Amino acid sequence: MIKNVFILSLLLFFAACSEKPLTQNLDGKALLESKCASCHDINMPPKISDNELAPPIMAVSFHVHNFVKPTDESQRTSKAIEFVTDYIFNPSLKKSFCDEDSLERYGLMPSQKNKLTKDEAKAIALYMFTNFTQENLIVIQKKQAAFDALDAGEKIAIKHRCLGCHGVNIKKVGPSLVEIADKYSQNKDEIIKSIRNGSKGIWSKGAVMPAFEKMEDEELEILTEWILKTNKS
Ligand code: HEC
Ligand code: HEC
Repeated sequence: MIKNVFILSLLLFFAACSEKPLTQNLDGKALLESKCASCHDINMPPKISDNELAPPIMAVSFHVHNFVKPTDESQRTSKAIEFVTDYIFNPSLKKSFCDEDSLERYGLMPSQKNKLTKDEAKAIALYMFTNFTQENLIVIQKKQAAFDALDAGEKIAIKHRCLGCHGVNIKKVGPSLVEIADKYSQNKDEIIKSIRNGSKGIWSKGAVMPAFEKMEDEELEILTEWILKTNKS
């Protein structure tokens, strides 16, 4: 019995090892956060700051991807991955694609030798060139623009996850917002009270509406105004 268990775990060990190359088992995103984010901003798009220590990772990714010189265009991404994997351990003013002014402002990146393994560096580089791409930036900017265009009240509803339980037009766990607006069209204070204190037993027997005790008065007001408007469009 003990022998069988031993052989089984040995088999599992080899199966796990032979399945994928090592970098695919490493989490490039988590590694980027823990190994690079202390100096490089890793938001997409980056948060602008006056006293940044290094160029944002999105800028680095776009940069390196544009400036590496592959012999064959189809090799551009693998060449970029190779560049970053090397740069992490062996940075130099000559290799850097940063312009002179930036290099002067930031100073050379200190080598990260002994702070991560080569495989970890590769996993980070792979993640950089799959996540920080022009296509992804466009998708994110479109989503952001759509969110910015929303009514202030709807933004608050999204922030507090009201829409997980209430559809605007459809009933989910709780009644639709349109139904609520119809019922309380002349009774705004009732809505405010329900959001603040929660509610149960009014719309159904089982499901409970949680209390949002800590929501700011101003937010609550804007949110309630928006709910009351949902049956008017
Ligand atoms: C201690 C701060 C610091 C840490 C940690 C750091 N960097 Fe840098 N990095 C810099 C600075 C400063 C620059 C700009 C100067 C230069 O190009 O060397 C830079 C530049 C780079 C460049 C070259 C940019 C270009 O356009 O040529 C790459 C690639 C890079 N970093 C990747 C990484 C990755 C990946 C990590 C995480 C493993 C990391 N860095 C961790 C400070 C840091
Ligand atoms: C976990 C699910 C859930 C979340 C999250 C939730 N609700 Fe509800 N809500 C309910 C349920 C269930 C009811 C019906 C309760 C009842 O029958 O009294 C309800 C009822 C309501 C009512 C009507 C209460 C009454 O007195 O008739 C309002 C108004 C309301 N929700 C607003 C909101 C707002 C605004 C948010 C976000 C800040 C929110 N809800 C978040 C589940 C939820």
